[in-house]
Amino acid sequence: MRRFFADRSEYLGDPDFVKVPLTQLLNTSYIAELRRSIDPVRATPSAAVHPGRLTVHESAETTHYSIVDAEGNTVAVTYTLNGGYGSGVTATGLGFLLNNEMDDFAPKPGRPNLYGLIQGEANAVAPGKTPLSSMTPSLVLQDDKLYMVVGTPGGPTIINSVLQVILNVLDYHMNMQEAVDQPRIHHQWLPDTLFVEKTVSPDTIEALKSRGYAVKVNNQIGEMAAILVDGGWLQGAADSRTESTAKGY
Ligand code: DON
Repeated sequence: MRRFFADRSEYLGDPDFVKVPLTQLLNTSYIAELRRSIDPVRATPSAAVHPGRLTVHESAETTHYSIVDAEGNTVAVTYTLNGGYGSGVTATGLGFLLNNEMDDFAPKPGRPNLYGLIQGEANAVAPGKTPLSSMTPSLVLQDDKLYMVVGTPGGPTIINSVLQVILNVLDYHMNMQEAVDQPRIHHQWLPDTLFVEKTVSPDTIEALKSRGYAVKVNNQIGEMAAILVDGGWLQGAADSRTESTAKGY
């Protein structure tokens, strides 16, 4: 009770005015941590109990949206500051953050950048040069007509996420939402690691390890926004990996 009321004092208020961090407050490992702090033989003085320091979810900075309007006009847009808060520098008086896109160059050829990518001289920094990007906002055409709009944030994982979603539709004949929902994997040569989402089954992970893959489980790879043109219909798919998205079913 004491611990809950400490959190209540800090975090609860009219949700029309305050964003109450319910997900973090109801997180079972957070609650278990609070429970562990209870001494079963001695009361903890309230002065020693403080509102919890909650880890606030900060998304991976890059945003993608896919749009098809009633006339069939289409956009796939991915935009980014690159790393968290970009360069961490705000333009004085203008209120926006400056990016740190220079890291998309090979900052030092042969050394990993922010995303662990090892890149060479072709992507070295030079005046007037554009850094290599993994952003892959994609339009898939069939007979010169729009078939699919796909894209996602995720640094280098973008390329592989877009690839897998497109293959899920073209080769595995899934509808748009099924294609987005499938577990995703990512390999970028170096590090020599196969990243798999936590939804990949333990059996599959064991099978991959037994074939020599160094597997690392990631919470989430990508955050897809995709549209499939299905006759006269549009199938929109949001990524259920992210909270508050409406499903396209
Ligand atoms: O252009 C690129 O490849 C990177 N600047 C993208 C960064 C990114 O997607 C970060 N977040 N998810």
